Formats: sequence, structure tokens, C-alpha cells
Amino acid sequence: MRVAIASDHAGFEQKQQLVDFLAQDLKLDVMDLGPDTDDRVDYPDYAALVARAVADGSVDRGVLVCGTGIGMALAADKVAGVRASSITTPDFADLFRRHNDGNVICLSGRFVDLQVNEEILKVFLTTEFEGGRHAQRVAKIMALD
Ligand code: RB5
Repeated sequence: MRVAIASDHAGFEQKQQLVDFLAQDLKLDVMDLGPDTDDRVDYPDYAALVARAVADGSVDRGVLVCGTGIGMALAADKVAGVRASSITTPDFADLFRRHNDGNVICLSGRFVDLQVNEEILKVFLTTEFEGGRHAQRVAKIMALD
């Protein structure tokens, strides 16, 4: 599985650690779309990079980290083909995959510990969409693009 990841300055430190977690622990093919420093940046610019990589099929899933995860989710979800949400617990990550077929997860670098975000990512990247009755609901979401 190919995964794209990016952050803003508020999520930079955890993003660096999550790149290693994805590549070394989960053995995934990781595309780090930046930034390379913790200089202040605007989160929509980085949300767009990851969201477009998911939408055009360059990667299978996207991961974004900002202060809360909220701004990244608002921006990424604007890109057609993307289903993005701010996720702060492993249980929500599980339902985000099983019911919503989420493809871009947005994490909080300021309010959620690294270990919890690692668990969230593990669930997000290993849980399958259930389909069935959820498929027509997801199709209705995508018809709004
Ligand atoms: C940056 O200060 C902060 O607004 C951003 O990281 C994010 O939390 C926005 O939703």
C-alpha cells in the first residue's frame, strides 16, 4: 500500500515520527509531501498535495497532521474523490474505514499523543470498508462532489 503524508508546522514533529512508523513498523511505501522544516505554513497547501495524490491514484491513502486535524480535513475533503475526516480515537478510525470508506485521515499533533496516533493509523490502514448498506450511502456522498 502506498501512503502520502504531510503536515503543517503544528503537526510537523509528529509527522516526522509517523513517517518512520509507517515505513519501518508497518512496512508501507510512504511518500512524504512535506514540509521539511517546522517553519510556519498554511495547512490547506499541504492538505491539497495529499488529497490530490489520493484522488489521482498516485497513492492508496492519505495522512495529514495539523494542530487539531480539523483544518486539514476541511481542506482535503474539498478535493473530488476524497473522503477526509479528523480522527482522534482508534474506534473512530475503525468506523471511518468500515462505514465511510475514508481515504484521507487527519490527525491532531497538539492534542493527541503520538502513541495514540500510531494506533489510529494502524487501524486506518488495516481495516476494510464493509460495503453493503454503507456503499449506497458513500455513493451519495460522492455524488455531492
Ligand atoms: C495552526 O496554528 C492551526 O490552526 C492548524 O494547525 C490546525 O489546527 C487548523 O485546523
